Amino acid sequence: MAKIYNWGIIGLGKIAHKFAQDLQVVKNARLHAVASRSLEKAEAFGKTYNAAFCYGSYRELLSCPKLDVVYIATPHVSHCANAIMCLNNKIPVLCEKPFAINAAEVRRMIAASKNNNTFLMEALWTRFLPTIKKTLNIIERGTIGEVISVKADFGFKAKFDPNSRLFDQNLGGGSLLDVGIYPVFLSLLLLGKPTSIKAVANIGQSNVDEMCGMLLKYPKNKLAILHSSIITKTATEAYIYGTKGTIRINPRWHEPTSLTLMVDGKDPKDYFFEYDSNGYKYEIEEVQRCLRAKKLGSELLSHHFSLDLIELLDEIRMIAGIYYPNNDRYTKLTQPKSDSHFSLN
Ligand SMILES: NC(=O)c1ccc[n+]([C@@H]2O[C@H](COP(=O)([O-])OP(=O)(O)OC[C@H]3O[C@@H](n4cnc5c(N)ncnc54)[C@H](OP(=O)(O)O)[C@@H]3O)[C@@H](O)[C@H]2O)c1
Repeated sequence: MAKIYNWGIIGLGKIAHKFAQDLQVVKNARLHAVASRSLEKAEAFGKTYNAAFCYGSYRELLSCPKLDVVYIATPHVSHCANAIMCLNNKIPVLCEKPFAINAAEVRRMIAASKNNNTFLMEALWTRFLPTIKKTLNIIERGTIGEVISVKADFGFKAKFDPNSRLFDQNLGGGSLLDVGIYPVFLSLLLLGKPTSIKAVANIGQSNVDEMCGMLLKYPKNKLAILHSSIITKTATEAYIYGTKGTIRINPRWHEPTSLTLMVDGKDPKDYFFEYDSNGYKYEIEEVQRCLRAKKLGSELLSHHFSLDLIELLDEIRMIAGIYYPNNDRYTKLTQPKSDSHFSLN
């Protein structure tokens, strides 16, 4: 009989609900335990999704019987500590994006995974969606020739609230790490690491980047043009330009259900990939596949890739003047004194 994977969730906010809904549609997956800073909240969440164990602190989850894997859905700033806490107790981890606030934290998480011989993956769910799989497939077949440029954006209009995760600098707020990570992820997936970067951010009244614009240059004159925002809705499209044609991943491209293939001299062709869930089921299936195969990480979204991604985000942050003083203070990412964009007052 196939093994049923018993999942736990740490941090019961918005995304945790969507994830719990998707656990219900994955074969051989079950929500087993939930952990919140509030027992009342954990019990209410557990009741909604039939979790057997509900805890009023994250640490209590560590002693949960028959727990196979934990999904971490807390704000960015606590991903590293929560992941390492689980890994040190030999509990496999799927951790929300961004994997952590900076590369130093991600290196510590990867070391904990290796030292404990325990699985770890970033929950960059877009990587596992069928439209992205098809995009890679079209590129690998050479249909659009060599990819020479990527243009992608992700912007939405959030209500300003200095105490919310999105606008609170102490919680890792701002557009780049929340949504800009998706365009940066796509550029890394398709073009690799850039040789030079230009980036500008507008830092809002709560000291987080409310918009960020990025220009990334690669060998052979390849280019990525990326944009993120939490103060305005953008087209949320991704264009992949090749020497023989273009792929447009249609809005919202980070959760796409269609793409348009435009090969030079031919009629455009649409491909549709509807899915019957919130879309998180694909990353859940990947985690279970990796656990069955006793892997430390996924080949589709490896530790190495996640480290490259956060290093790239660190570099963009330094260039654009985006800082998280509490988390960055032990890294090379420290606030330059002359940076006029940045103020702690
Ligand atoms: N993959 C995706 O599509 C996607 C979408 C949205 C967000 N995310 C990622 O998921 C993470 C959580 O996002 P979210 O939108 O679910 O956030 P959220 O609604 O604010 O929930 C975060 C949860 O983390 C816990 N938490 C722990 N310390 C906290 C603190 N100091 N302040 C506030 N909450 C704290 C809380 O759970 P308890 O009260 O139960 O402890 C809270 O409900 C972020 O890293 C984000 O980037 C991913």
